[in-house]
Amino acid sequence: MSTDQTAQQALTPEPADSAADWWRQAAVYQIYPRSFADSNGDGIGDLRGILSRVPYLVQLGVDAVWLSPFYPSALADGGYDVDDYRDVDPRIGTLADFDEITAALHDVGIKVIVDIVPNHSSDRHAFFRAALASPAGSPERDRYIFRDGLGENGELPPADWRSVFGGSAWEPVGDGQWYLHTFAKEQPDFNWDHPDVRQEFLTTLRFWSDRGVDGFRVDVAHLLMKDLPGDLPSAAELALLDETSGRHPLKDRDEVHDIYAEWRELFDEYDPPRTAVAEAWVSTPERRARYASPEGLGQAFNFDLLTADFDAGQFHSIVTDNLRHSAASGSSSTWVLSNHDVVRHATRYGLPPLHGRDVKQGAEWIIAGAPADGVDLERGERRARAATLFLLALPGSAYIYQGEELGLHEVARIPGDQRQDPAYTRSLAQGEWSSDGLGRDGCRVPLPWTTKPPSFGFGADGAHLPQPEWFADYSVEAEEAAPDSTLNLYRRALALRHQLQTEESLEWVPTDDADVLHFRRPDGWEVMTNFGEEPVPLPGGQVMLSSRRVDGELPGETTVWIVR
Ligand code: NOJ
Repeated sequence: MSTDQTAQQALTPEPADSAADWWRQAAVYQIYPRSFADSNGDGIGDLRGILSRVPYLVQLGVDAVWLSPFYPSALADGGYDVDDYRDVDPRIGTLADFDEITAALHDVGIKVIVDIVPNHSSDRHAFFRAALASPAGSPERDRYIFRDGLGENGELPPADWRSVFGGSAWEPVGDGQWYLHTFAKEQPDFNWDHPDVRQEFLTTLRFWSDRGVDGFRVDVAHLLMKDLPGDLPSAAELALLDETSGRHPLKDRDEVHDIYAEWRELFDEYDPPRTAVAEAWVSTPERRARYASPEGLGQAFNFDLLTADFDAGQFHSIVTDNLRHSAASGSSSTWVLSNHDVVRHATRYGLPPLHGRDVKQGAEWIIAGAPADGVDLERGERRARAATLFLLALPGSAYIYQGEELGLHEVARIPGDQRQDPAYTRSLAQGEWSSDGLGRDGCRVPLPWTTKPPSFGFGADGAHLPQPEWFADYSVEAEEAAPDSTLNLYRRALALRHQLQTEESLEWVPTDDADVLHFRRPDGWEVMTNFGEEPVPLPGGQVMLSSRRVDGELPGETTVWIVR
């Protein structure tokens, strides 16, 4: 038996999918706009670049695109420092361009999701400028989280808290007051008890919904509500507090769901209702399920596979638990292996397992960047293809990060003076995301479209982050010409997924090998992954697709899709 698509026609087509439910089992492609395609040769990807690649997205077979922030920004944190939530950065395009790509994507049946960043604005947002121009205690300052500094003249921070990117989480403004920034100092945290802040985001959600946006990805959705006592706890005291109680001063507070209930009312005014997916790094699946409730955002990212090893036992329990939790919350599960914050999974899987290391340390390491050496590239790719085929067969929605369909590796060797990520530039300050040093630029390098330098078809000239020579072999041009490329695997898988996917259910088929997982979806679609290194027997049925050439048996580190 060899890998082919010959049995495709035998399948019953079209998943049950009402207009309002389009998101439940959608394949969503994340575009990091600055690094996708550059139409005007300034080295920065833009909206017209995306427009020129709509045919590529159609051929890939995705149901929706999620655009990471394209709003006006000084790019202190790759655009997650937003100056104006209702405009487009002039380097990336115009609102008219946005309307044009939305229409072009809708014309070909692709939905549009935009990123909303509600925990913090940039320090150039009109609200923050007004806060700085107003005195301590003013209503303008109250839209953010200002506190008097300690010491005789307020010269010391109000608390010893560290920001996620390193350094103090408090920044002085020169008059004895300091403001809180969970992330970079250019990202002041909003005070969500203030009605103006609530209104700003309702207006923003309506603005994009009226322009035809289908859904929203909500940045750090668990951090918005804060309850800070007059005497602030120390960092050490904070670390001892229970993050699952709903009453932690900074994280995952129960009242945050009142905000999302209000947003849900707004979303439901539209037809079909606008959707949302929470980025919520909370401590238990039960807490995460609250963000995914139909009365709230409706869906939440499940990052469990992204922080797991390539390991049958870990994959099995993650899938089982998450399907249970999403069913209980009325949502569908989400599956993610890569995004713009983590080391690309082709590289991760070529590194020693995280399993057995301290989980927190492991998660930090995943986010902080891959070491330049010690990666088994081939094994990483083999496992990445197997994990992806496993993931694309799961019930729920699949999130694909630009470039993973090319099997791209993390770019580890970027000279320090060209790195942009604050998680790197502030790494000496020992931030939560920077302890291992390299930051997140390695997964944000502009995509290779052709085999030719200077920018491999990204734009007419260079790219804002340096692309390595090996990008030529991973370019769209090279992979289109290679029948067994990762790009062709993704295209085949996404096309088949559309035909095969019906109900959101999965049944495990017992195997007698701890390294092998086997599951069945309705209508005879079966999936088997061999996480071990030795070949194992194939089950009966016709192999529709495999992550690696299959000949009589299932090789190590390989997934097959079978129909009976
Ligand atoms: C999560 C985003 O994914 C990340 O890129 C960003 O740095 C932080 N939130 C802060 O907005």
